[in-house]
Amino acid sequence: MSKKDFLQEIKTGSDSMTLTSTLNWIDNNKVSIESQLEECGAILFSNLPVEEEGDFDNFVSAFNYETFTYEESLSNAVRINKTNKVFTANEAPKEIEIFLHHEMAQTPTYPKNIFFFCKSSSLEGGQTPLCRSDHLYEEILKEDEGLIDEFEKHGVIYNTLMSNGDELVSGQGRSWQKTLGVKSKNEAEIKLENLGYSWDWIDGDNLSVTTRTFEAIKELKDGTKSFFNQVLAASLGWKKNLDDDISPVTFGNNQEIPLSSIQLISELAESLTLLRKWKDKDILLIDNYRVMHGRKSFSGEKGREVLVSLTN
Ligand SMILES: [Fe+2]
Repeated sequence: MSKKDFLQEIKTGSDSMTLTSTLNWIDNNKVSIESQLEECGAILFSNLPVEEEGDFDNFVSAFNYETFTYEESLSNAVRINKTNKVFTANEAPKEIEIFLHHEMAQTPTYPKNIFFFCKSSSLEGGQTPLCRSDHLYEEILKEDEGLIDEFEKHGVIYNTLMSNGDELVSGQGRSWQKTLGVKSKNEAEIKLENLGYSWDWIDGDNLSVTTRTFEAIKELKDGTKSFFNQVLAASLGWKKNLDDDISPVTFGNNQEIPLSSIQLISELAESLTLLRKWKDKDILLIDNYRVMHGRKSFSGEKGREVLVSLTN
């Protein structure tokens, strides 16, 4: 089996299911769904009577996991809450590609599970690339053991630009006020200090933030290792602090990650990536520890509406 063929499709077995019977079905099958997720990293549920954000909220709630709220997260994406636990995936303009990443791996707290719900698919593009990072780890190790050593030894540091007020033209446009959950510059500095981050106020009261060191590789429950980070998304897609020439991601010892290494990781990831085209009402559940995701750009008059819910 190709390493791209990891997505497990789960059939509920009946076309006549109602939302209530679907929720009961989850309750009765939760253990087997979880063991499949642990093994494959991604599960697709299709053709369920889940139409609206409220239905999707009920679907996610049926798993009884702890909610990971957008509001409290340090996510750098602009999203709009639809219910307490359901929000839009990213308000970035449709031309923008969001490169492969593990959700919030650039922050100290990140969700275990990501539920996506396709309320409406786009006509052209808009697919969600999925890549197993345990396989990516193995492939990088085969090609360049020294590179894996560097990531394991030093971890990574991220530099993010947080705008003064939301900036909708980018995939990382959430304001520093919302990202940090603060109202004033003074409160922002206290929050950053507590996080162990460093910062600079730059033109127009925007904020350049450098994180502390985070792991770049995560050991999973089954003993395998996952290339768990934002190295690709940050180096290929994030805005760079051009004033001070700071890269969005470096090794934890502040050394630059060579461009040739980014290219190698990107090519290996590409060879392992499954490009999933959305169909209306699809629900995708991914294990954020094992599987990276992204978003291809899209076009067409019919808007793409993919909603998300995060849990632990
Ligand atoms: Fe994401």
